[in-house]
Amino acid sequence: MNIEELIGRMTPEQKAAQLTQLGAQMLGDPDHPDITGLVAALDVSREELDTVGSTLNTSGPKARLAIQRAHMAADPNHIPLVFMQDVIHGYRTVYPIPLAMAATFDPALVRELAAMAAEEASAAGVDVAFSPMVDVSRDARWGRVMESAGEDVYLNCVMADAQVRGYLDGGMLSCVKHYAAYGAGEAGRDYNAVDISEGRLRERYLPPYKAAIDAGARCVMPSFNSLNGIPSVANPWLMNTVLRGEWGFDGVVVSDYGAVGELLRHGICGSGGDAAELALSCGCDLEMMTPHYLHSLKRLLSEGRVTMEQVDACVRRVLELKQRLGLFDRPEGRTDPEKYAALALSPDNRRKARLAAEQSAVLLKNDGLLPFDPGVKRVAVIGPYADDGMIMGFWSVNGRPEETVTLRRGIGQRLPGAEIRYAAGCSGEPVTDDASGLAEAAELADWAQQVILVLGESGLHSGESQSRARLELSDAQLALFRTVQAHCESTAVLLMCGRPLAIPELAREARAILCMWQPGLEGGSAAARLLYGDVSPCGHLPMSFPVTTGQEPVSYDMMTTGRMPEDPWHSEGAAFHTRYLDCPVMPLYPFGFGLTYTEFRFSDERLSAPVLTADGSLTASCTVTNTGSREAACVVQLYLRDPVASTVRPVRELKGFRRLTLAPGASAEVAFTVTEPMLRFMTAAKGFASEKGAFDVWLAPDAVSGVPLRFELV
Ligand code: GLC
Repeated sequence: MNIEELIGRMTPEQKAAQLTQLGAQMLGDPDHPDITGLVAALDVSREELDTVGSTLNTSGPKARLAIQRAHMAADPNHIPLVFMQDVIHGYRTVYPIPLAMAATFDPALVRELAAMAAEEASAAGVDVAFSPMVDVSRDARWGRVMESAGEDVYLNCVMADAQVRGYLDGGMLSCVKHYAAYGAGEAGRDYNAVDISEGRLRERYLPPYKAAIDAGARCVMPSFNSLNGIPSVANPWLMNTVLRGEWGFDGVVVSDYGAVGELLRHGICGSGGDAAELALSCGCDLEMMTPHYLHSLKRLLSEGRVTMEQVDACVRRVLELKQRLGLFDRPEGRTDPEKYAALALSPDNRRKARLAAEQSAVLLKNDGLLPFDPGVKRVAVIGPYADDGMIMGFWSVNGRPEETVTLRRGIGQRLPGAEIRYAAGCSGEPVTDDASGLAEAAELADWAQQVILVLGESGLHSGESQSRARLELSDAQLALFRTVQAHCESTAVLLMCGRPLAIPELAREARAILCMWQPGLEGGSAAARLLYGDVSPCGHLPMSFPVTTGQEPVSYDMMTTGRMPEDPWHSEGAAFHTRYLDCPVMPLYPFGFGLTYTEFRFSDERLSAPVLTADGSLTASCTVTNTGSREAACVVQLYLRDPVASTVRPVRELKGFRRLTLAPGASAEVAFTVTEPMLRFMTAAKGFASEKGAFDVWLAPDAVSGVPLRFELV
């Protein structure tokens, strides 16, 4: 297709439509009674519908083929649509949420599952996924932490890269989101304002978007939030200076759902035409689900408020995306109903989803109770999420809860010779004191030889617009825990959550706590294999678990202060230091933490040299030994600290990690190469650079352990 020739013959109205993205249901059957209201609300004509450039959320391969065929016949220029959709943690074979996938610290596995999702989604007709979400998330009150790789910028970069490459492996393009710093919304409230320094933005929030683009993401979605006073989609510094300027991004920017129209509600403009002008001036190529380009572009051109060059630049990027996807030659893209039917929920895809659920689980506590003896005869599975198909998690778009292996079902399948009894015990609402199920739960716990107590939060209580002001378990769940714990000493807690929760009583009183996150449709089978020792847990926390909600936002990489706490693990710390009167400074469980069914000893930590030159490198290494009796995986984490610099620095920063599996008694040396670029930060006066002087290095199993080694950058 000769794109310049095509642009040359498009009218201004057709160009405005080409820069518009509307829901597939509006294109497929605009006269459907459920859709006419939406079409009327957007005030979109039939002619405009016939010329839009892109659609989102098609219902499957047959719909994709039908919509594309009809659209190309109706469009006077016969330009194919590009189809986009949220493919966040699987398309039809739903696997653990991205926060759980980050807990694997295994980018190869993340890439493999992303490729699986892309194979299913592209066969179902998806050209571009609105994924990965790489918003660094440090406040567990925010519901969308479940979509991210957690609190650390380096881990988010690694997981962004893995997801983008996995999608490409599976034949689907990526749209990295939400640019930028959506996870830093004030008070953990979704869509809330973000106000942070350029230095913190560049050090802690922007790198993962850049990592995704460097890995091949061809679309970027600006975030709903305002950033330092200006909403992202209309933020010239963010969109023009950094994204298009410094990074040279030449792909497509697609607004978030209605975000262009929301510029009016943000109060930075007074009309739809103003909103269109602001978004266009910031290179927003596709306006999702609002009609301001459609309704205003021609007038903005005639008034000279936007130029045809600006409009053509946007149209060109959209057409180039379609050309890259081969849609002008094959409008069906990779749509293949037969291939999709063979892939969706296939045994191999379910196996991969189960493996991911096993590897993302984090063992938070175990006094030796786990693994359970599988020869048991009477097992009780109790809790509000024990038989809940929504343990798949939020953004399971095409997943069906009835196809989930629930925890109750998974335990039953693992123990065919045992009697399994179930009780919900209490309601799964985030805040409730309904104790009506306690008597039944107590009776069940008396009967059982083992109890699996499933607590936490529903898959519906995290995700978009699901911020919470309380991360504590409900009174009903705590009452259930106390009751079951009192009636059966072999009680293990399974924690289902889309975010860190505040669980100090469980941490104190439970014998074992296994965090399963929201593990996807194979969660029950994975949990059973973990509980009964077929596999050892090996996940590590991508986000800190707070002692109480009041600690949020809490993260391992806290900045030093002039009055660091003398004892950050206890609230009795000295007065006039950084502390709380009623709570430790440190979280309940820190970033990087995770236990397993064996023990690992770190020893022989050393550096290959005491100094590092700007163009040189040194090696930081240690020996890890499995001193227990079971094979398991360990994640060795490399942390650095700059104790003296021109700006205040974090107490630690993750700069590398290595996952390795060791048989009982086996040892291995783990080595990391340290180079000068790893030491760069936003200096006081020299931009992003390193500064000579001392640096501390840790090789550790989590963000608070290890012995510091010191070298000098010269
Ligand atoms: C939503 C989300 C975004 C998603 C888009 C399309 O509001 O913010 O992540 O991709 O709309 O569904």
